Formats: sequence, C-alpha cells, structure tokens
Amino acid sequence: MKDIIITLDGYSSCGKSTLAKQLANELNYVFIDSGAMYRAITLYFLRQHVNWKHEKEIHKALGEIGLDFQYNEVTGHSDMYLNDENVEALIRDMLVSEHVSEVAALKEVREFGVAQQQAMGKKKKIVMDGRDIGTTVFPNAELKIFVTADPSVRVERRFKELFAKNPAITIEEVKTNLEMRDYIDSNREFSPLRKAADAIELDNSNLTREEQLAIVLEWATEKIK
Ligand code: DC
Repeated sequence: MKDIIITLDGYSSCGKSTLAKQLANELNYVFIDSGAMYRAITLYFLRQHVNWKHEKEIHKALGEIGLDFQYNEVTGHSDMYLNDENVEALIRDMLVSEHVSEVAALKEVREFGVAQQQAMGKKKKIVMDGRDIGTTVFPNAELKIFVTADPSVRVERRFKELFAKNPAITIEEVKTNLEMRDYIDSNREFSPLRKAADAIELDNSNLTREEQLAIVLEWATEKIK
C-alpha cells in the first residue's frame, strides 16, 4: 500500500468538496478544502476593511492571519478556523462569495495559501480540493481529478444549498456569482483554474453521490495498491 496525494480541481459548485470528503472518509485520508482558506482570508479582509489594491496592506493583513482546520465531532469533518474562531458557516455567506475570487487572485494571497497547502501534504494521505491543486500546489500528485458538471446543474445545486440558509436568495444571484467566479478563477494571472495534463475528468452532471464515489474510489485504489 502506497500513501498518495489526491487532488480534485474544477469550477465552483461542481460538488468537489462533497466528493473529496467522501473519498477521504473511505480511504481514511485527511480532507482539505483549500477554497475555505481563501474564503477565510476574504472574510478577514472584509472585516478589517483591508484595501487589497495596496500591496502593503495585503502584506500586513496576511501577517495577522492564522488559518487552521479543526475536527468537528458532530459533522465528522474539519471546520475552518480563522485566528481561533470557527468561521465555517460565515465563510459560505454570499458576501464572501462575491469577493473571494478577487482576493484569491492576488499574488501575495496565492503564495500564502499555496505554501500552507503544500506543508499539509508533506505526509501525503490527503485529498485536497480547489482550483490549482493538481497544477500548482501538487504538480506531482499521484491521482488528479478534474470535476465538471453542466452549468445549470451547478446553479441548481448551489441555489438549494444557499436557499436553505437564506430564503431571500434568487437563482439569478447565484447564477451571476458562479459565472463571475468561473471567469475570474480561469483568467487570473497566477495559478488560473486549468485541467492538469495528467488529470482524469469526471463529469458528475448525471451521477448520484454514490455513483461518483464508486468511480473515484476505483481510481484511487488502483494508485494506492
Ligand atoms: O471551492 P470554493 O468555491 O469554496 O472556493 C472559493 C474561491 O476560492 C473560488 O472562487 C476560487 C478560490 N480558490 C482558488 O483560487 N484556489 C483554490 N485552490 C481554491 C479556491
């Protein structure tokens, strides 16, 4: 048995995190939601009114940020902590979603995120999801998966998730936000969203959670044995 790194990249709301969590559980690996880190940084910037047009302000703010994942006994997954505060729910807010792609495109922020993500992979046995995990963070990962889904399916999924927390949200708002994030994530200068040349594509538009898990488990088992 080999210890490996598994990366899952793809557009927003493709169900990457759900799949990555399930896969990590099955393999007894650690799941890391790299997007949560960029969301927590964005939350900090918004709260502290950091003007991210100024490099000095970004630099100072990043020096004040401590990110940490801590296991939640109730959910069975890790929650994102920002300077010892559990921000797992707050970082899923629309306000954070509206700014996160802009913040995640900043060079300093990327360097900050990538360095911490790479450190988490030192001992392998991780499943990390994001946008640049198979390309920039772990270019030598043993298994790279690029998740895709039909845009209408993605909007529907995300809407359901957000509507449960905020019934005032409209499908139009969700669609606009997803399109904007896809555009910024794919067109930014540093570490844009790309399918790594050696990544396997998984289109889960018409797959149930169980079906997609069965497929990736087979891929993972192949690499691990
Ligand atoms: O996966 P998510 O939707 O929670 O990610 C939030 C944002 O963070 C996403 O719009 C782009 C950014 N992100 C990134 O730039 N690189 C990553 N590895 C993960 C997320």
